[in-house]
Amino acid sequence: MKYVLGVDLGTSGTKTVLFDQKGKGICSATVEYPMYQPQNGWAEQAPEDWANAAISTIQTVLTRSGVSKDDVVALGISGQMHGLVMLDEKGEVIRPSIIWCDQRTAKECEEITEKVGYENLIRITANPALPGFTLSKLMWVRKHEPENYARCRHILLPKDYVRYILTGDFATEVSDASGMQMLDVPNRCWSVELLKTLDIDPSLLAKVYESCEVTGHVSAQAAAKTGLSEKTLVVGGAGDNAAAAVGTGVVEDGKAFTTIGTSGVVFAHTDKLAIDPKGRVHTFCCAVPGAWHVMGVTQAAGLSLKWFRDTFCAAEKEAAAQMGVDPYELTNQEAAKSPIGANKLLYAPYLMGERTPHLDSDCRGMFFGLSAMHQRRDLLRAVMEGVSYSLNDCLNILAGMGVAPETMLACGGGGKSPLWRQMLADVMNCPVATTVNTEGPALGVAILASVGAGLYPSVQDACRKMIKVNPAQQPIAENVPKYAKVYALYQQLYTANKDLFRQLGGIGE
Ligand code: XUL
Repeated sequence: MKYVLGVDLGTSGTKTVLFDQKGKGICSATVEYPMYQPQNGWAEQAPEDWANAAISTIQTVLTRSGVSKDDVVALGISGQMHGLVMLDEKGEVIRPSIIWCDQRTAKECEEITEKVGYENLIRITANPALPGFTLSKLMWVRKHEPENYARCRHILLPKDYVRYILTGDFATEVSDASGMQMLDVPNRCWSVELLKTLDIDPSLLAKVYESCEVTGHVSAQAAAKTGLSEKTLVVGGAGDNAAAAVGTGVVEDGKAFTTIGTSGVVFAHTDKLAIDPKGRVHTFCCAVPGAWHVMGVTQAAGLSLKWFRDTFCAAEKEAAAQMGVDPYELTNQEAAKSPIGANKLLYAPYLMGERTPHLDSDCRGMFFGLSAMHQRRDLLRAVMEGVSYSLNDCLNILAGMGVAPETMLACGGGGKSPLWRQMLADVMNCPVATTVNTEGPALGVAILASVGAGLYPSVQDACRKMIKVNPAQQPIAENVPKYAKVYALYQQLYTANKDLFRQLGGIGE
């Protein structure tokens, strides 16, 4: 039996899973790390934390599983997208990574749009300038930290930094590179034209591969640290959402999934390039060679519940620790005691600004309708419902582009909650299913690794062999109109407060 490794570099932690060639999870390990918020709307992480987490989780799964390193034929890395890692000529990290949910770069986005031109930007990168994407972060550093910019010789995405640590290679792949806003997305290569217009040196950028292509192998140094063999191949891997698509089998037209991780995403595969002219959903290359995907993003999906849990649920966290269960099991039980609509309480999940459908870095989260009768369970339910409405906003835009999935696959931490999945099924009025192996992105990149190592001829073929789907949860007919009524009100919350968000952002400036 041959084995493949999937390393999933998330925002809250890195999880590494060892799979056999049939897709069965053998052993997994997770290491968490912090996210720093030096200012309201800013978000940074230490690339060294990611590297240490990858090394230690790989070492743990190899030791615990007892699998021989010679049988681990390949590994893939999935990563939180967009983060900017800057390295000097010695390959040392120059500054903390400004990550995907950081919102400091609205001005740089205006500058990009002005210099490149809105239509040109869409033609080349398939997306409008967004604070989440890497390009505006790079331009922010050039403007505000010129000494750091001058020292920079390589820019990498989070997972590609970990690849560099494991292999010594500067490489990336099309799905994650799409989110840097420097890739010519229709042609799957760096855009010389855009780089020239913005005066960015192309030598800063890594070589671009397709996601299932082999980019190198484990270096002697990394082999010594991780316990891997130097023969283990490393494939392109994928951005976390493109990886989750492979891990849920969303690799052909008509298939879609939603994930509730730190961010939330509704993602649909497309064999033909499709772009939302208003830029409310992203179009990126997907991990299937020659294909793309469209996806809507809720900035703070799981992050909303994690924020609420960490800030207001100390009792549940303590009880969960004593009982040896996941604290979310207890928060789920509490939320389930509140009725649909959370006793007339709504939550908008704009903790880190928003992308879909509002593209607004100034907006912030809110509870609407608080009453003295509300209990913590109502607030918990409102948070979960608000995130579900936001994901429904994403689906509605994709529907306008012709996406009509028969079943929605659910994954991510939030996708493990039957309560949340039922909410999604009722709010979206669409059956929601899970895969038997719930490792989404880790399984996705392990599948890419198995293709790169030649165990399967194509990504689609590997998915058919390695993924099994559970029966779907159906929408409950009487719940659908109840949620629809609250959703109609939810949709007005942003519009009604748009100007106030801007005023709030201006306070103290
Ligand atoms: C996608 C995005 C997030 C991150 C973090 O555009 O920003 O989904 O990849 O998970």
